[in-house]
Amino acid sequence: MRSVRGDKTKLYGLIWGIDNKGVTVSAFEDKTEQLETALNFRIDRIELCKKSTCTRLYVTPRKHDRPTIISPYNEFFAKELSKLPNLLCVGKTGSGKSYALSVLLGIYAKYIPTVSITICDYKKSSFAQFEDTSNFYGYEDVPNGIRAFYQEFSERLAANDEERNKQIRVLLIDEYGALISAQDKKAADELKTMVGNMLFMGRSLNMRILIGVQRADVEHFKAGARDQFRAILALGDLSKEQRQMLFSDYKDKMNERNGLGEGYMLIDGKGIERVKIAPIRDFEVLNDTIRKAMCR
Ligand SMILES: Nc1ncnc2c1ncn2[C@@H]1O[C@H](COP(=O)(O)OP(=O)(O)OP(=O)(O)O)[C@@H](O)[C@H]1O
Ligand SMILES: [Mg+2]
Repeated sequence: MRSVRGDKTKLYGLIWGIDNKGVTVSAFEDKTEQLETALNFRIDRIELCKKSTCTRLYVTPRKHDRPTIISPYNEFFAKELSKLPNLLCVGKTGSGKSYALSVLLGIYAKYIPTVSITICDYKKSSFAQFEDTSNFYGYEDVPNGIRAFYQEFSERLAANDEERNKQIRVLLIDEYGALISAQDKKAADELKTMVGNMLFMGRSLNMRILIGVQRADVEHFKAGARDQFRAILALGDLSKEQRQMLFSDYKDKMNERNGLGEGYMLIDGKGIERVKIAPIRDFEVLNDTIRKAMCR
């Protein structure tokens, strides 16, 4: 072993640097289970260091093998999350998606000082407390919210104005699947095209999208758009099909049973992580921060 250091993105994670003596990453991966048993660690990820003679193992000691907490107060992870360009949150009804999305919006509002948040809540339930702000769109008004956000996206795309692009804008669409299913073909197509374009090109324009769905369905996205999500948060236990569709490389690691607000988060380039959404300490504070960001 060459080095051990703490993994700042996790509560108890460690990063081991190992002199690999020419053993490939896939050979390490093939032995994951044996290594985990022998060393009493969970291995989260294995990658080659810049120097190809060194391999990095991201591990968590079994005694700390607990989910990473998602909360505005778990500062390091929250800051990581606030950098994500887009995120898909998926889970059966009652798994805690809308609650998790509120926490994520709270994180954006807390860690991105000038962020502007737009909420499209198709069920007009979980976010209805923001109904009095101009950036809230509920039920039949949701397509207008997406259009308004898309307008800014198109203008940014045309203007190429660095100053304008600096302000991060976040669009939440909760119950996206139900929204698309309820539209006729033409309207559904219009919405899917807008969302698809923003997923493809929104990143450099600082136009971000958060989507909540009960089931990720290829029908609900333009071809390829689903693969644009840089992060996927799955709450509760996903069906086998959903695991295969969304987490194909990691589905064998998703062995834990997940209660309310628990699940897995896959971040591009960072691998999969077991997560738990912390109970909200103070709804008033959270709602207040989100509301301020909705008035920008
Ligand atoms: N992490 C959590 N801690 C404590 N309570 C939670 C947590 N997540 C969700 N809840 C509670 O569980 C219930 C269901 O959560 P939520 O409405 O977020 O589920 P959902 O996945 O959005 O469901 P639906 O698909 O029906 O909208 C709510 O009453 C919510 O307050
Ligand atoms: Mg919900």
